Amino acid sequence: MKGIKIFSPATVANLACGFDVIGLALDFPKDEIFLYKSNNPGIRIHRIHRSSLPNDPMKNSAFVALQYLLKKYKQKQKFDEKKIGFEIELIKNISPGSGIGSSAASAAGVVYGANILLEKPFSAIQLIRFAMEGERVASGTAHADNVSPAIMGGITLIRSYQPLDIIKIHTPNELWVSIIHPQIEVRTSDARKILKEKIFMKDAIRQWGNVGALIAGLYREDYGLISRSLEDVIVEPIRSMLIPAFYELQVRCKKIGALGGGISGSGPSVFMLSKGNYTAKKVTEVMNQVYSPLQVDYKTYTSPINSKGIKWIQIL
Ligand code: HSE
Repeated sequence: MKGIKIFSPATVANLACGFDVIGLALDFPKDEIFLYKSNNPGIRIHRIHRSSLPNDPMKNSAFVALQYLLKKYKQKQKFDEKKIGFEIELIKNISPGSGIGSSAASAAGVVYGANILLEKPFSAIQLIRFAMEGERVASGTAHADNVSPAIMGGITLIRSYQPLDIIKIHTPNELWVSIIHPQIEVRTSDARKILKEKIFMKDAIRQWGNVGALIAGLYREDYGLISRSLEDVIVEPIRSMLIPAFYELQVRCKKIGALGGGISGSGPSVFMLSKGNYTAKKVTEVMNQVYSPLQVDYKTYTSPINSKGIKWIQIL
């Protein structure tokens, strides 16, 4: 096999209370990536469609993640197998700086695809580690809460970063996601810099109560418990200042039936969870109503949870 086309999903990190530890994969939108194995050593990005990502490959999450994978692969192989390179073409349907895992989709997609082209020498955890290096250049921190659900699918929980210990969490059947993406760019690195380094014990207690209860709610398919647990008392009060009409979105979406939600990753996208497609579509409609009078362009999406994560097809 020489070439594949990869579909790498958007992801919602944090899920309100789980800063840097919880994330989920969406069915829509997704990036498309063409990846070819070649005998020409090195990595080349030929084209990036629909985005003005930096030309410097060392700032590109896909390039850096794949570079880590290739380095590891070459260490494992015999000398004559070192003549391996990759050619990449990226179609960015997930806008950079949107808060729905754009850099993660690129990084996770290429390492996942390369692993297939190399006949699967690496485990999912190893792929996540490579993709995290892509996140490091994109956001300044090697967080794993977007790349994990992209690679593993569904909802994931990072119990520990050192050592990396990631658990795939049960996804209730009827859980749907509504997203609004205001067309303003919030860089993850900037949205992290404004956070406090120290938090109050009373806030920590409330937050870890919510994280535990959210996981219990997902396993029990207890939508009431999921709803009560979608609360962030640590990060949201600070980052919500960057998002126009954030609290109006929250109040009106919940009033129409959303279970709850919050900032998607580092924003500016806002997500809401709902029970069932019908309610999720109504919630997305309310998001449109809140934003249409504002002087801000936006996009909305309604998506089920993507239980499989990255998909691929052979093209050569
Ligand atoms: N957990 C990260 C953050 C996700 O909130 O900064 C970024 O997508």
